[in-house]
Amino acid sequence: SASVPLKAITHKYVGSAVAAQYLANEPDYRAVLTREFDNVTPENEMKWGTVEAVRGQYDWSGADAIVRYAQATHKTVRGHTLVWHSQLPDWVAALPADELRRVLRDHITTEVKRYKGKIRAWDVVNEIFNEDGTRRDTVFRQKLGDGFVADVFRWAHAADPAATLYINDYNIEGINPKSDAVYDLVKTLRRQGVPIGGVGVQAHLSIQYGFPGQYRENLARLTKLGVDVAVTEADVRIPTPADAAKLDTQASYFDQLWDGCQAVRRCVEFTTWGFTDRHSWVPDVFPGEGAACLFDENLQPKPAYLRINPW
Ligand code: XIL
Repeated sequence: SASVPLKAITHKYVGSAVAAQYLANEPDYRAVLTREFDNVTPENEMKWGTVEAVRGQYDWSGADAIVRYAQATHKTVRGHTLVWHSQLPDWVAALPADELRRVLRDHITTEVKRYKGKIRAWDVVNEIFNEDGTRRDTVFRQKLGDGFVADVFRWAHAADPAATLYINDYNIEGINPKSDAVYDLVKTLRRQGVPIGGVGVQAHLSIQYGFPGQYRENLARLTKLGVDVAVTEADVRIPTPADAAKLDTQASYFDQLWDGCQAVRRCVEFTTWGFTDRHSWVPDVFPGEGAACLFDENLQPKPAYLRINPW
C-alpha cells in the first residue's frame, strides 16, 4: 500500500461516504478510512428517512456516531442531505402545503442546530433538476413552488451561519443543459442574497458513458459566481467482471476528476461515495456494474488509487 495517505498529498479536503454500521463493526474499514481521508459524509444516516422515519420519533444514533468519530479523528463532516425527494418518509410527502412548509422548516432547523459547529458543509438541496434543466417535479415543488429552494437555504443558514451551504446534483460535472440550469439558479440566488456557498458535483461516473465534457471549465465557471465547488460522491462504475483494461480506464477517469479539482482554486473537496468495493451502492442500483471505488474488497488500493496517489 502507498506510504503517503491521500489526505496528505493535497491541501483540499479528501473525503469518503461512510456508514456507521461498518465503522462500528469492521476495524479494517475504520483503519483505512482514518488513515486516508480527512472528511466524512454520512451515506444515509442524516437523511430524513433515517432520522425521522416516524413523525416525532427521532433516531440520531448513526449520525451521532459518525460525527463523534469525525471529531475524535480530526475530520470534517459534510452533512448529507436536508431536502431530497428520495429516502423521504411517506408521512412527509402526504402533508398539505402549509403543514409541509412548517415541518420542512422544523426538520432543517432541528438537524442543523443539533450539529451546529460540527459540520463544515451541508448538502441543503439534493437533485432538484431533471436532465433537460427543468426542475424536478417533487412534492416540495408541487406544494411549495420553486421558491422553496431559497427558503431552505435561509433556514439552514439561520440554524448554523458558519456552515457552507451547497446545492448538490449528479450529471452536472461537465457542461450540459442540467449544469447550465444549476449555474443559472446559483447566479439568481446569489443576486437575491440567498446564503448559498457551494455547488456539489456528485460525479457518479461509468466507464461506459465517457468522461464528462468540459469538466474543468464547468467547475471554473461555477466558482466565478463566488461559490466553492466540491466533488461530493465520486465513483466510477465498471461493467462486471472488471479486468486490467477496464481498471486502467477507471484510473484515468478518477485521475481526471481529481486533477480538475486540483486545478480549480475554489474546488475545496474531493469526496468519494464509499472507498471500498466491499461496500458500494453501485451493484445494488446498477445491475451488471460494480468495482466503482478506489480500494478493492480487501481494502487494497486499486490502479485508480495509485494513479491519483503515486507517493
Ligand atoms: C445512496 C446510498 O449509497 C445507498 O445506501 C442508499 O440505499 C440510497 O442512496 N446520490 C446521493 C446519495 O445523493 O445520497 C445516494 O446514496 C447515491 C446517489
